[in-house]
Amino acid sequence: MQKAITFLLATLFLLSLSTFAQNKYIGAKMCGMCHKGEKKGAQFEIWQKSKHAEAYKTLTETKAAEITKARGLKKAANESPECLECHAITADTKLTADGVQCETCHGAGSAYKAFSIMKDNAKAITAGLMEFKDKGAIEKKCKTCHNEKSPSYKPFKFDEMWAKIKHPIPKG
Ligand code: HEC
Ligand code: HEC
Ligand code: HEC
Ligand code: HEC
Repeated sequence: MQKAITFLLATLFLLSLSTFAQNKYIGAKMCGMCHKGEKKGAQFEIWQKSKHAEAYKTLTETKAAEITKARGLKKAANESPECLECHAITADTKLTADGVQCETCHGAGSAYKAFSIMKDNAKAITAGLMEFKDKGAIEKKCKTCHNEKSPSYKPFKFDEMWAKIKHPIPKG
């Protein structure tokens, strides 16, 4: 019996993985269709003004070229997987210029973007929206990029950094 349950759970797990794998990136502009404006919490505007929206562009600038040169990389920074892994989503090359965008943190949105799913948090999570259980989980996500592997790493002060990019839905 226990074996059967383990098998069932494993199958469900693999199935859920494969559904997530099929989720496609839709881009920050699509999320912004519903998540913009003061009333909603201006998530799109806050992101657009943040450094995350510039993360790909940064790789096309002189500072980036100096880093790749110093590291002996053969390709330009904006073509080097060693840089793109933190500066852009590359799964859909049309969206590379979005840099670090909504779906980098919230998960690819094709399956949860519909209004009927989005408004039901449990459904959205099942469809691939990432859940952050607490502050610790958020900080862990940030540190997947804000770490010593970054050539320009500065010690990551979570509270200070989160204050610069947080984008809550207004209460009430
Ligand atoms: C068709 C409109 C629509 C689109 C497109 C959309 N959302 Fe939403 N989203 C909503 C609604 C409605 C809610 C429910 C909360 C609310 O009423 O503001 C929501 C809630 C959320 C939440 C909060 C979940 C929670 O309750 O903790 C996140 C995070 C989110 N959306 C991210 C995204 C991202 C990322 C994208 C793009 C991939 C996206 N949304 C696209 C309408 C939309
Ligand atoms: C660097 C990572 C990151 C990026 C980029 C990002 N978010 Fe978020 N977002 C978060 C985290 C972390 C939370 C907080 C989750 C929580 O409190 O449970 C959040 C919360 C939200 C919420 C829910 C707020 C609430 O009060 O429940 C919405 C809606 C949302 N994000 C939409 C977006 C949209 C739309 C974009 C792009 C325009 C975006 N986010 C970009 C990480 C990010
Ligand atoms: C996918 C990688 C990635 C993730 C995840 C990520 N960041 Fe970033 N973040 C970057 C990159 C790359 C830059 C630099 C962008 C630039 O300057 O072009 C950056 C820059 C920033 C900046 C601007 C730097 C400054 O000193 O003002 C803030 C603030 C920031 N991130 C906060 C956060 C927070 C908070 C989280 C977690 C909720 C987070 N980031 C998650 C990659 C990431
Ligand atoms: C592990 C994730 C990660 C990788 C890999 C990475 N970066 Fe970054 N990059 C960041 C983050 C996070 C920031 C924001 C500053 C920091 O490190 O706190 C940043 C900032 C930058 C900046 C702006 C620095 C400044 O002082 O304004 C440049 C330029 C840059 N990165 C270039 C590169 C290049 C070129 C590569 C490839 C050789 C690269 N990065 C690889 C995460 C990364």
